[in-house]
Amino acid sequence: MEGEPVNVNEFQELARQALPKMYYDFFSGGAEDQHTLKENVEAFRRITFRPRILVDVSRINLSTTVLGYKISAPIMVAPSSMHKLAHPEGEIATARAAAASNTIMVLSSMSSCTIEEVASSCNAIRFFQLYVYKNRDVAAQLVQRAERNGYKAIVLTVDAPMLGRREADIKNKMIVPPLKNIEGLVSTEVDNDEGSILEGFAKGALDASLCWRDIGWLRSITNLPILIKGVLTREDAIKATEVGVAGIVVSNHGARQLDYTPATITVLEEQFKTRHVVHAVGGKVPVFLDGGVRRGTDVFKALALGAQAILIGRPVIYGLAAKVEYGVSR
Ligand code: FNR
Repeated sequence: MEGEPVNVNEFQELARQALPKMYYDFFSGGAEDQHTLKENVEAFRRITFRPRILVDVSRINLSTTVLGYKISAPIMVAPSSMHKLAHPEGEIATARAAAASNTIMVLSSMSSCTIEEVASSCNAIRFFQLYVYKNRDVAAQLVQRAERNGYKAIVLTVDAPMLGRREADIKNKMIVPPLKNIEGLVSTEVDNDEGSILEGFAKGALDASLCWRDIGWLRSITNLPILIKGVLTREDAIKATEVGVAGIVVSNHGARQLDYTPATITVLEEQFKTRHVVHAVGGKVPVFLDGGVRRGTDVFKALALGAQAILIGRPVIYGLAAKVEYGVSR
């Protein structure tokens, strides 16, 4: 590649060159046939515009609000694990870039820097992503730590009752460094006869019994607003509004969980059929989207189809691996 990277694909290529194969595969890969992984991106490509002409666009304002917080553009940082595998500065560099870009960062429960370290290193608006562990006290402790450290919302991930089968990680015998955020809270001693270490960890620690009534439990232990991440159907969007969440994130976990789910933008396109999640929600709560967003035009497509804002996962990691904080900002 000649010169400075000018788009996410070029950052991805730089990240591929910078990272050991095991880590690049971990960040970039998806589950099983990676059908949804390709679809998340391709489905955006199939949408075209009908631009109207002779409209005054001399002044534009990209800012928006998310749960009342003003951000400079409708682009947030999705929760993704273990940023230190991308760069030694890890989530601290990511959070600083989020702060500089005046947007929201969602910190993963599986981050390499702790809730406290990220909070004290920058003034980004931060949300905290939660996995619920079999030991509910662990989840409760994480929520309390997030609340104490000024995180503004809990993003409950609901599409990972078990880990997706990520075959590159299995082949590479993916190594998981100690997860500092949950160090001492969850046993990471796993039997790795089959599958990746991460898969074994998830099986041992994550609570696969999590269900709708547990939203009530979560609400009982925190005053923070709760976003539910991993909604893919109209039916579940309706349920989510009924249990009192503050917003939903249409997500298939970046195609790392269940393969052959639709692309997330396809889920939003369903308004042209009859099963549209945004309509189902009826404007009661905001709808966000992540998965496959790689260009400004993708963001615009998601907004045009009803999303309030989008989140990006891999693009952030590619920026971090290639050019640290500056890369994430770009
Ligand atoms: C993720 N994602 C994720 N989600 C979550 O709720 N908790 C997590 O710890 C992680 N970890 C994670 C690691 C890596 C390496 C990736 C790529 C993704 C999913 C993430 O929040 C988001 O849904 C997707 O990344 C969005 O898709 P794109 O933008 O990567 O295409």
